[in-house]
Amino acid sequence: MKFFIDTANIEEIKEASSMGMADGVTTNPSLIAREEGNFQDILKEICKIVDGPISAEVISLDTEGMLKEARQLAGIHENIVVKVPMTIDGIKATRRLSEEGIKTNVTLIFSPLQALMAAKAGATYVSPFVGRLDDISHDGLLLVEQILEIYNNYAYDTEIIVASVRNPLHVLDAALMGADIATIPFEVLSKFASHPLTDKGIKAFLDDWNRAQK
Ligand code: G3P
Repeated sequence: MKFFIDTANIEEIKEASSMGMADGVTTNPSLIAREEGNFQDILKEICKIVDGPISAEVISLDTEGMLKEARQLAGIHENIVVKVPMTIDGIKATRRLSEEGIKTNVTLIFSPLQALMAAKAGATYVSPFVGRLDDISHDGLLLVEQILEIYNNYAYDTEIIVASVRNPLHVLDAALMGADIATIPFEVLSKFASHPLTDKGIKAFLDDWNRAQK
């Protein structure tokens, strides 16, 4: 499973990268807005840290505006993946960008048919938002399961980025299903490594060792 880090915070990206846990990065307008500095400068800094797909989202809602922004974003670095929203205009832009060889990540996916349209349009990635579905008492992981089944049925190359991850179990369930990628907030990733029995075991080893040294 590839781990993308869902943040525009440079320090978090550096920390995840130092653990070998940053196969890519996803940003969105809200994540960028939390950080100081110019959008393009932030993206350039991220591209220096992580040698993997870096998702940057367009703001325009019309196809031509999306295409103009997308070409500018793609020109920043070869690893930039252009995020477009799951709308008719976004699908048209995805189709055109696919023909131009610009990688796309169709985002704000909340239904399997949205994901099917994105794959048919040539999307490189789709981002189903599991947490936001769970937030309204819908089953976010069921959406991932349905997309996986559809993509496997027709051998689509589009990769699934499980997004809007709220807790470690979202990543566990996605991995058990065989989803390609999870994009994980750093705060959630930080919870993966720790376990109380690991801590207890380390303490017991050291206590026994130190006792034997006396
Ligand atoms: O960045 C895309 C997605 O992961 C954001 O999810 O629901 O935490 O804003 P959310």
